[in-house]
Formats: sequence, C-alpha cells, structure tokens
Amino acid sequence: MAFKYVILGGGVAAGYAAREFANQGVKPGELAIISKEAVAPYERPALSKAYLFPEGTARLPGFHVCVGSGGERLLPEWYTEKGISLILSTEIVKADLASKTLISAAGETYKYQTLIIATGSTVIRLPDFGVQGADAKNIFYLREIDEADKLVEAIKAKKNGKAVVVGGGYIGLELSAALRINNFDVSMVFPEPWCMPRLFTAGIAAFYESYYANKGVNIIKGTVAVGFGTNGKGEVTDVKLKDGRVLEADIVVVGVGGKPLTTLFKGQIEEEKGGIKTDSFFKTSVPDVYAVGDVATFPMKLYDEIRRVEHVDHARKSAEQAVKAIFASEHGKPISEYDYLPYFYSRSFDLSWQFYGDNVGETVLFGDSQPTSPTHKFGSYWIKDGKVVGAFLESGTPEENKAIAKVARVQPPVESLDQLATEGLTFASKI
Ligand code: FDA
Ligand code: NAD
Repeated sequence: MAFKYVILGGGVAAGYAAREFANQGVKPGELAIISKEAVAPYERPALSKAYLFPEGTARLPGFHVCVGSGGERLLPEWYTEKGISLILSTEIVKADLASKTLISAAGETYKYQTLIIATGSTVIRLPDFGVQGADAKNIFYLREIDEADKLVEAIKAKKNGKAVVVGGGYIGLELSAALRINNFDVSMVFPEPWCMPRLFTAGIAAFYESYYANKGVNIIKGTVAVGFGTNGKGEVTDVKLKDGRVLEADIVVVGVGGKPLTTLFKGQIEEEKGGIKTDSFFKTSVPDVYAVGDVATFPMKLYDEIRRVEHVDHARKSAEQAVKAIFASEHGKPISEYDYLPYFYSRSFDLSWQFYGDNVGETVLFGDSQPTSPTHKFGSYWIKDGKVVGAFLESGTPEENKAIAKVARVQPPVESLDQLATEGLTFASKI
C-alpha cells in the first residue's frame, strides 16, 4: 500500500496530527495512521485516572482525541469520512528510510512520500534493572489501553486487596491514588528521598506525601524492589525490598520511567538526548521524515537548548506544528518556529496541580501547604539569574493557572525571594 503521508504510531500526537491534516485540507486516500493499538487515537492521560475509578469511570469512545484539550472527539467514523486510513493492530517491525518503506509484523509493506514518526515511549521494565521474578502474574505496567484493561480486571478480581506501587513519579502517584480509591491497601516504594524528584522540591513533595499518608497510602522511601514471591498459580504474593522488608501484594504496579521508541530508526537518523533530533518544524535529519511527541528532541527556543518532553501538551502541539510545516513547505510559505512553554499537570484524589516553565535555580514556596487544611492552595516559583523561570500551583483556578503560565513565559525579574514568598500568587496576578 502507498500513501502520500504516513503517521507511524496511533497515540496522542497521531490523533492531533490527523485533525490538523484535515484542517489543512488533506485529500481522501492521502493519509494513513499505522498503530500497534487496536483503537483510534485517544487521550492517554485518562488511563491512569478516570479509566481506573470505580465510579465516574471513563471508557472509549468517551476519551478519543481531541476531547482532552476541549476539541472535537474524533471517533473512528471521522477518519472514514475524511478518507484517512486507520490501520490498527499493526506493528511496524522494520523501517527503511532510504527506500521510504515500512514493514509490519504480518509482512505487509507500506510506502510513503512523507513520514511522521509518532511512536511515543515505552515503559522501562524491572528486569532491565536486574530484578528477579518480575514476570509473575499481576505485576502491571501502564502505557496502553490493553494494559489498563488487564489492570482493571485484576482490581476486580482482587477486590479490597493489597497493592504495591513501585516508583515515585507520575505513574507512582496517580496509580497509588487510583488503587486507594478502589479501596486497596496501598504501599508506594521508591528509591529517592521524596516523591517526583524530577519536578517537585522537598517542600512540594512534603505536602503530597502527607496528603497521601492521610488517605491511607503507606509511603516507603529510600529503597527499591529487588524480588517477588509467587504462589502456585504464578501470581505475585509479595515484594521483597532491598532494605530487607517484605510487603504482601495481590497486585503490583510498576512505574519506573519511560524511554522513547526510536529502535526502528537506529543508525538511519540523527539522535540526541535519547530521542530523534528535529528542528523547530519537527523535521529530522532525513528528508521528508518528521518526528513529534515523546520521541522528538527539539529546540526549546525559550531556553536556547534542545530537549525532549514526555507530556501530552507537547505531543498535541508538536503534531500540529509538524503538519502545518509540511503543508507550508508544499505551498512555499513560511511558518513560525515552535516556541514551546513547558506545561505539565497531574490530578489525584481531589488534588490538581499545574507547572509551567523550567524547574531550575532557587525556589520559594508560597501559600497554604498544610495537607490537612481544607483551604490548601500553594505553589512554588523557580528563580534563575534574578528572574522567575518556573511556577507550580496546586488547586489553582483557571485564572490563577493562566497567571502562573504567564509568569513562566514573561520571566519577570525579582528583587527579593522573601518578598516573592510573601506575595505568592499576587505576584503572578500582577504580571
Ligand atoms: P503515545 O504513546 O501517545 O503514542 C504512541 C503510539 O505509537 C502508540 O499508539 C503505540 O502503540 C504506537 N507505536 C509505537 N511503536 C509502534 C510500531 N512499531 N508500530 C506501530 N505502532 C507503534 N502527560 C501529561 O501531560 N499529563 C498527564 O496527565 C499524563 N498522563 C499519562 C498517563 C499515562 C498512563 C501515560 C502512559 C502517559 C501520560 N502522560 C501524561 C504522557 C502523555 O500521555 C504522553 O506524553 C503522550 O501520550 C505522548 O504522545 P505520543 O503520541 O508521542 O505517544
Ligand atoms: P517517571 O520518570 O515520572 O518516574 C520514574 C520513577 O521511578 C522515579 O521517580 C523513581 O521514583 C522510580 N524509580 C527509578 N528507578 C527505580 C527502581 N529501580 N526501583 C523503584 N523505583 C524506581 O516515570 P513514570 O511515572 O513511570 O511515567 C512514565 C511515563 O509516563 C513518563 O513519560 C511520564 O511523563 C508519563 N506520565 C505522565 C503523567 C503526567 O504528566 N501527569 C502521568 C502518567 C505518566
């Protein structure tokens, strides 16, 4: 089969790219999306949140893209109406960029004129760290919807049981909450001195750790899982920790990081910082090949540095930029460079935070960060070279979140960190 445009991958970036192709007037038969998953592109963040809840449960087709950013929901019929081929349950196992050919596990060949690589990330697995017994039943990872379905089944089968969550990052925090909401007895284990060390300061983490503890989550820091016990059915029964402790477990969820899926292209394309190197239009080193979302290492204009971002907002925006760039170059028109302001968020229990900008330099904590306070609302600023470069806010209103986003974009100067801490959100609302 041959197409003018092929998107390899059927996740968030692919879905948002498809919508932009339609906006740009792609003709029926020109575009194909090839995805290992069995369903049309959906908002992946739902998998670690409402997908797992016992009430108010999210299920497809409810969260197909682009509902996560308030846009139209692209149901499978939408692709048919637009003449976009959605080639699902199809894993590409070989890519030859020189001959513009992709080959699937079933041996089908797909030719393209322009390729967008949107393969996203895969999970890091415990055997990669040399952990024994990690192939026992009821040890789960979470990236795709079929994995979420298996976890949901286990939650039902092991009702009110014991769960151990390995990892203290995004998956660790969101899954510990989801399992607790399902009335599991939850322990969360991670090696660092505080949770989410990639982003949180000690002050921010202290709030979430106390809040989780008050919800009944048992947090175990400074150690790692080194092995698992199993019963006669091959199901996990306990988690052995490096410090000698043993935790009983009916379910284990592992979230120890992700890695971009670039293996198909090794040696054929320039890579940097673990991803596929692109310019500000998401063009790679290979002509007619673009890379977007988690796999792209792109110029972050605001910080004059090239970086990779593993979050949904960038997946959406990079996909749109790449498609705009493809059409602009076909029509010989210029478009603006990608000028991305990092935006990350998470939700768990009745908490919700947003972060914008760069988490470098000195920090100040502001607001009410008492986990037991009914009016908790707090945040943090990051200050580098006398300017505010990053801002975090828990429980902000839409206006307050907009204000911290503006601060991170404008990077206003600050004279006194003490004054900044006292002013807190008032500082942001003045910008
Ligand atoms: P994505 O992973 O969405 O899609 C990649 C697609 O490519 C998949 O469909 C995959 O099957 C397919 N594929 C890969 N290799 C293939 C091959 N060889 N052949 C065919 N198909 C192939 N971010 C955030 O900002 N806020 C949040 O709350 C969350 N929550 C969240 C929860 C969970 C459970 C996960 C796993 C991730 C998040 N994220 C997030 C991160 C966010 O979802 C992520 O950054 C985007 O999905 C990245 O979009 P991509 O399209 O790049 O990859
Ligand atoms: P992460 O990088 O956020 O966290 C990894 C965590 O693994 C570390 O913080 C550490 O605590 C732990 N760890 C590392 N080595 C370990 C070991 N040997 N034993 C035990 N723990 C160890 O990655 P993640 O939480 O697995 O998330 C995977 C991907 O999904 C990332 O790309 C993330 O951005 C994305 N995601 C994002 C969101 C969000 O943005 N709200 C939500 C879920 C997932």
